[in-house]
Amino acid sequence: MPAPSAPWWRDAVFYQVYVRSFADSDGDGLGDLPGITSHLRYLRDLGVDAVWITPFYPSPQHDAGYDVSDYTGVDPLFGSLGDVDDLLTRAHRLGLKVVVDLVPNHTSVEHAWFRAALDAPAGSPERARYLFRPGKGRGGARPPNNWSSVFGGPAWSRIHDGQWYLHLFDATQPDLDWSNPEVAAMFDDVLRFWLDRGVDGFRIDVAHGLAKDRSLRNQRGRRSGETDLPSDRQGSMVERRDVDEPMWDQPGVHDIYRSWRRLLDTYDGDRMAVAEAWTRTPESMARYVRPDELHQAFNFAWLLAPWSAAAFADVIRGTLDAVRPVGAAPTWVLSNHDVVRHPTRYGGGHRGLARARAATLTMLALPGSAYLYQGEELGLEEVDVPPEFRQDPVWFRTGGVGRDGARVPMPWRGTHSPYGFSRAGTTPWLPMPDDWARLTVAAQRRDPASTWSFYRDALRARRRFADAGEDVEIVDGRATVLEVRRGPLTVVCNCGPRPARLPPGTVVLTSGPLDGHLLPPDTAAWVACA
Ligand code: BGC
Repeated sequence: MPAPSAPWWRDAVFYQVYVRSFADSDGDGLGDLPGITSHLRYLRDLGVDAVWITPFYPSPQHDAGYDVSDYTGVDPLFGSLGDVDDLLTRAHRLGLKVVVDLVPNHTSVEHAWFRAALDAPAGSPERARYLFRPGKGRGGARPPNNWSSVFGGPAWSRIHDGQWYLHLFDATQPDLDWSNPEVAAMFDDVLRFWLDRGVDGFRIDVAHGLAKDRSLRNQRGRRSGETDLPSDRQGSMVERRDVDEPMWDQPGVHDIYRSWRRLLDTYDGDRMAVAEAWTRTPESMARYVRPDELHQAFNFAWLLAPWSAAAFADVIRGTLDAVRPVGAAPTWVLSNHDVVRHPTRYGGGHRGLARARAATLTMLALPGSAYLYQGEELGLEEVDVPPEFRQDPVWFRTGGVGRDGARVPMPWRGTHSPYGFSRAGTTPWLPMPDDWARLTVAAQRRDPASTWSFYRDALRARRRFADAGEDVEIVDGRATVLEVRRGPLTVVCNCGPRPARLPPGTVVLTSGPLDGHLLPPDTAAWVACA
């Protein structure tokens, strides 16, 4: 169990704010920092402990801000440094921690370093901050190796003088060469800049990608240009342990995090960092949270699991077994801005929402910390954004797969778009569905049976079990019902087709109505056992 003196993040509930879609204060159709600040009380009332804010730095926005051109500034689209300070002050006053996104794997093509690299000759120190290489074949016309971009297509683009540069994501996101000490030094300064301003931590984007195999050798078992979409990569994460990936999860990344840990430890207030590392196994995930490395790593295993008691039990067991030896606490997450929202993944409609609520209640019963994605407290589903409104580079590089459907702005109030997200009459950056009036925050706060009220109640109840400890026992998880005991709290999640019996005790909370004393299918319950 976390010691009484355990740091705040160890069992915190984080709420991910996707800045462009949370709240627009100036009427340009895009969310911004003052919009977040004016809704911090909402987050406090919902009952979360911390807010993770996606990138708000200057950027040409080719990948919604994950293409940073200046790591210590604020894009005027989102506000100013003064707005960051206001946000931090207000959040801290309300007792909320604030985590910002750090994007160290790549810069934007508009970053001063990349511009300088394009102006400098091959072999120059300016080029050495990135991964420029000559091509293969006659005239160097073929890319230096067979690596694919996560966003589809080859991971290399060619520049005016014939050299190629590596980009594991969009062509506008050139990968940095982390074996160059200048790169590490720059990011040390970036970390210090935001820590000095008062942020409580960082979410490390693509944390498993910074170090590449030094030789940049071909990936075995892959044809050149073969697409490796996030969904493929994620879907095969656990099953394909033997896959050859010279670009991901290389031993060298851990030196970087050891050095960041030393830096973070020079600050007071339990500053933390969480790795976004799509690793293949729970064991490799756990390597990022060894005592001298990062504090947390996203555990994507649950998010990738099907609706199945046995699969959930495997994930819980695998996760806890992996983090226990390194003394870390697990994290849990069901949705974020890169994946299909979980009610839709679970089939959509009434059943999808029932399952999503049950999965959430189960997740919130587990030890460690949980990450929520904005809008999940409203039960929002993935939106089928029409092709003409699509913005995600993945959509364009793959011709048909994209993440915009999870990024549609938050509906706050009212009966039609933009539902209080922005000033009336404003067109939001992604269209908001016509039938969201019943899903707005205002509508759901009035309804004790709404998904919003359920999240608020669950977060409140979770605080009552804060001392329940970190040891869990999987009582059942072989067939259709998952039953997990954690101290005085037992969570039961019915993934099967028939009502299930609850263990003796007092029912604290359920994700949906009970059927007499029985737990209906697609429903979870917390039971306090004597
Ligand atoms: C972020 C994505 C982004 C990618 C490249 C990810 O893992 O979450 O939204 O497109 O990194 O920065």
